[in-house]
Amino acid sequence: MSESVRRALEKALAERQQADLLRRLPGQLEGVDFCSNDYLGLARDERLRRRVADLASRGPAPHGATGSRLISGNHPQLEALEDRLAEFYGAEAALVFSSGFAANLGLLASLGGLVSALLCDRLLHASAIDGCRLSGARRIIFAHNDMRQLEGGLDRLKPGEAAAVVVESLYSMEGDFAPLEQIMALADARGAGVVVDEAHANGLMGPLGRGAVAAAGLEDKVLARVVTFGKALGLFGGAVLCSAALRDYLVNFARPFVFSTGPSPLWALWVRAAYDLLPELEDLRERLWANVAYFRNRAAQSRGNWLPSESWIQCLLAPGAAEVRRVGKALQEQGLAALPIRAPTVPAGQERIRVCLHACNTFQEIDLLLAAADEACRA
Ligand SMILES: Cc1ncc(COP(=O)(O)O)c(C=O)c1O
Repeated sequence: MSESVRRALEKALAERQQADLLRRLPGQLEGVDFCSNDYLGLARDERLRRRVADLASRGPAPHGATGSRLISGNHPQLEALEDRLAEFYGAEAALVFSSGFAANLGLLASLGGLVSALLCDRLLHASAIDGCRLSGARRIIFAHNDMRQLEGGLDRLKPGEAAAVVVESLYSMEGDFAPLEQIMALADARGAGVVVDEAHANGLMGPLGRGAVAAAGLEDKVLARVVTFGKALGLFGGAVLCSAALRDYLVNFARPFVFSTGPSPLWALWVRAAYDLLPELEDLRERLWANVAYFRNRAAQSRGNWLPSESWIQCLLAPGAAEVRRVGKALQEQGLAALPIRAPTVPAGQERIRVCLHACNTFQEIDLLLAAADEACRA
């Protein structure tokens, strides 16, 4: 390594360390899971394992795609999965990516060829921020879920200017929902498209877990949806749901699609199996909602500074890198895995413990968590 690169490397790491922000890979998760995105417990679900084995036995799929889907990697299993996704979500078409990050990046970066402005909620996920930056479109950022600012941004568009609004249906670090109907109405009135990242709503909200867009009946109105398979589906990967024409466009212009090895056909079987299972998981979704209600009820009586979230993502504010780590450590000592979220993932001063509720969490575990959080906040 050249001397100048080595110095730059050491400096970057030392600065992070000094700011108390150096990240390290943790060991195996220990304690009650209040931090994974495996909201329904599908990552270890026995039924899913059996279904994958069953599908695979009907016609083995290769584990490797062998190339970009535009060269050698377009296996029929991938197209079968996309047909299944389009049908399930009531979309004209679907295009799979190897991660939700790649789906957001591919979609939003290539939208730059279609629109000249992107109106972005301030709290978009890093993958959407990077995609919007790469698009080259003018970015108009509005305060989180602030409809007046969104309206103001739309008013700033030039007459006839092509634009799209980019939001998440359920925000990953706040746990609050976007007012999708209002966003759609505002965008529609100005002829702007709407892109919705459904990462944390997928599999959980709406009929059969089809997401928040389906719950609001907006399937035919949005420009595109991004769904991920790494959260409630317990797997990994993602997809863009959109019109057939936009899918054709992405196949031509989305660089993470064009210039990347296609997803594994065997993986496509896993994902299809998870979608076959989703309609049978109503009981788990109900248990998750019951846990949310129980948590909210109990949190209202606690002394911790819990953000007002109605979802399975709950946040305890503990501002400051050292403070949030102290609270996280106190929870871990009680056998509770709820991890501190620090800057730059959230703005400095808004550090928090992010709690993910799961269908399998018991009321007793939730009581334990809230009591431990109370205790840690008092200390
Ligand atoms: C809102 C949101 N969008 C997209 C992603 C990226 O999805 P994936 O983990 O499948 O790459 C995440 C991941 O945390 C997310 O929270």
